Amino acid sequence: MSTPPSLPKKVYIETQGCQMNEYDSSRMADMLGSSHGMVRTNNPDEADVLLLNTCSIREKAQEKVFSELGRWRQMKEKRPELVIGVGGCVASQEGENIQKRAPFVDVVFGPQTLHRLPKMLDDRQTRKITMVDVSFPEIEKFDFLPEPKVEGHKAFVSIMEGCSKYCTFCVVPYTRGEEVSRPFDDVIAEVSHLAAQGVREVTLLGQNVNGYRGLFHDGGICSFAELLHHVAEIPGIGRIRYTTSHPLEFSDELIAAYADIPQLVSHVHLPVQSGSDNVLAGMKRNHTARDYRQRIAKLLDVRPDMHISSDFIIGFPGETNQDFAETMDLIADISFDHSYSFIYSKRPGTPAAEMPDPTPEAEKKQRLHLLKERIRQQTQQKTDAMLGSRQRLLVERVSNRTPGYLIGIAENTRWVHFPGNAELIGHFVDVDITEVISINALRAGAPVWTEA
Ligand code: SAH
Ligand code: F3S
Repeated sequence: MSTPPSLPKKVYIETQGCQMNEYDSSRMADMLGSSHGMVRTNNPDEADVLLLNTCSIREKAQEKVFSELGRWRQMKEKRPELVIGVGGCVASQEGENIQKRAPFVDVVFGPQTLHRLPKMLDDRQTRKITMVDVSFPEIEKFDFLPEPKVEGHKAFVSIMEGCSKYCTFCVVPYTRGEEVSRPFDDVIAEVSHLAAQGVREVTLLGQNVNGYRGLFHDGGICSFAELLHHVAEIPGIGRIRYTTSHPLEFSDELIAAYADIPQLVSHVHLPVQSGSDNVLAGMKRNHTARDYRQRIAKLLDVRPDMHISSDFIIGFPGETNQDFAETMDLIADISFDHSYSFIYSKRPGTPAAEMPDPTPEAEKKQRLHLLKERIRQQTQQKTDAMLGSRQRLLVERVSNRTPGYLIGIAENTRWVHFPGNAELIGHFVDVDITEVISINALRAGAPVWTEA
């Protein structure tokens, strides 16, 4: 029997969309490294395997998939041995249609089947047919992934997958499946492994991390707040972030965690989408603007220096000028640190796609412009307010611009330049902010205190 041709050695992965996709892409690279000895390259021209990790959250993101694949087809015409794979949410939604529209694609896999990629690539080599697997085999994925490769002092850890909220505008529950939490022990083992290799900041990832319900090994259920306490106890973990959380499950227990866990950063991303109760109801967010204000007020009682960022959707079907004014009122009241805001994009198969949407596109664009401008001012105010304050930074790297300077990242994600020795990289330092040099960067005096 003849042996299959030996598999290629370099993989190029292009990631579209959210941090979850970024995370999945690095896991694909880890996996192909351990299964096939492949290394990741940033240059598609030297790659043997091209993988496109796709996003379908808005129509624009989805359109990019086929334009990129068009470019890859030309590369494959010149190098027929090139292997092309499509993963992520568009793959999940389109499945075999990808292969119909782009027959030169070799493998199609979904967010929950990426661990099967090595086998799919092997099968493709031997069977010479396009391999498609976009099923949802529960949380099996994590059992098959190798330990993550550590680069630098920050890492992402996925704690739950999917979403069961079914907001009327959103494709995520259909592309990533329903919420499934990783068992408590698995999460703790992964964070401990990362911390032992020098990771100082973890970001816990999931579509709704505060919906986390992880199984303890005794069969009990671990809440998100409890998980945070345990993660904070792992030696070496100096900073904890998480994204994304949902206002509905932003519980009192979670708010109380901010009083007890100093490693939890004073920054939270809490998407609200709209400040109008009519729109929130149409979106099926299951809370009111008042509920959101109350959650934030409670949080600020515990952490007065809390920075809050959010997502907004402008021009949801039926959004009136009055609804939009209510969104602007909420923005004025909360004073957001920053936001990710987009015009509503109709997603096939979601309930909102059937709702009447009479507002002209130009009107929506105008609203988006007003909202972004208002939040840009708030971002600037928050940055300016840091002048003279003391900030804890995780030192990231040496500054390319100013010799003798380092760059560290503050809890609220601002970049801070300060004079210091490269030995501080990967450590926490406290600095006094002396100058604001742009909207998201600050300059500081030398560190006043450092911590290993
Ligand atoms: N789980 C998160 C959001 C995940 S999707 C939450 O609870 O909010 C990320 C963001 O994409 C959403 O917060 C929303 O603002 C935006 N989004 C999702 N579907 C969209 C659509 N159809 N049109 C425009 N923006 C959308
Ligand atoms: Fe999407 Fe709503 Fe879930 S925005 S990811 S369905 S919480």
